[in-house]
Amino acid sequence: MAKMAAAMVESGEDAFRKLFKFYKRRNPPPDFSDVIDFSRSLPSDKILPAALDPSAVSDEEAARVGLQPVRDWRAFGLQGYPGFLFISNPFLLGTHPFWITQCLKTYPQKPNVCNLDMHMSPSETQDIWGQSAHGLSTPAGKREPRTLLERLRWVTLGYHYNWDTKTYSADHHTAFPADLHSLSSRVTAACGFPGFNAEAGILNYYRSDSSLGIHVDESELDHSRPLLSFSFGQSSIFLLGGTRRQDPPTAMYMHSGDMMLMSGQSRLLYHAVPRILPAPEGHTASHMDPCSSVSPQQDGSVVESVSEEDWKVCTRYLQSSRVNVTVRQVLGPGQSFPETPSPLQRTDAGQTAGYHEEHGEEESGKRKRRGSCDSADAET
Ligand code: SIN
Repeated sequence: MAKMAAAMVESGEDAFRKLFKFYKRRNPPPDFSDVIDFSRSLPSDKILPAALDPSAVSDEEAARVGLQPVRDWRAFGLQGYPGFLFISNPFLLGTHPFWITQCLKTYPQKPNVCNLDMHMSPSETQDIWGQSAHGLSTPAGKREPRTLLERLRWVTLGYHYNWDTKTYSADHHTAFPADLHSLSSRVTAACGFPGFNAEAGILNYYRSDSSLGIHVDESELDHSRPLLSFSFGQSSIFLLGGTRRQDPPTAMYMHSGDMMLMSGQSRLLYHAVPRILPAPEGHTASHMDPCSSVSPQQDGSVVESVSEEDWKVCTRYLQSSRVNVTVRQVLGPGQSFPETPSPLQRTDAGQTAGYHEEHGEEESGKRKRRGSCDSADAET
């Protein structure tokens, strides 16, 4: 347990919530000295070097989805969290723009589902990018305050997660994006999970004052398959706890391009994002790729070049935003959905807003949006 967590927490209390509020606090700002930064860390008694399987993915296969050769990835485990893996930005320089553009321009498109669909008609949410691009390429102050892209909070892919029932179902499914499927298969194969089948995805879109409530992802029917996470844009603090709320979480930074894998004993742990932080020097989208339209083009490449115009919109959006993509396999081999979805245990319903929190609601005492960590331990 980190020094600060140990000092702050008394036995039996909701240690996770306490640390969540600590890192979310603005005034005075918290002490970040206990937050692990894998981009700078060397193996220690807490940070363990992780063994990957470079033979599982050839260098060509890795490059086709925009990844460095697996032998070059900087991958770590954490003492006390078997099955947890952190990979510090394994993307090839110049490939971020493709994945970022997919997250901002392509994946929010129909037939995928997003938060805006909850209160807007399909024709209004048909072209989120087209309706936002102009606004975002115009300097702030001279434009509408909030484009549709800036109002996007979540998008679901594949088996569309139902925030109310907290289930997936056979009859709410659209094709999972083939490019993200390829990326996920390669990352999971390198991490020792050959045959992973990406079936559901949730994209979370964070503004600088957003946070994501404490939750466990347990709605997938096969928990032997890992949960995979990719992040782009601004940095965040990610809290990884235990199986109980009394277990104090470990705090770590997630920067643009970082990946995480939760499997085995770490698959069903509480986690949350209390805070978004400005990306430090060397981790910003514009730094990542000064020549955005250059991507490794080779036979069978999934990664395509991005137009300067699109990249300009992406970088403007990411100046104050972060995107996270979690990818899940829902069903085990040969498994199908039960006739009646089973009721879920560690939560209550009413998550149509996803599980984002808006800054200041807790402090101001205003009615919180449904889905915050304090009203429910959301889960997917
Ligand atoms: C993250 O945004 O890093 C986490 C997303 C999630 O837990 O669903």
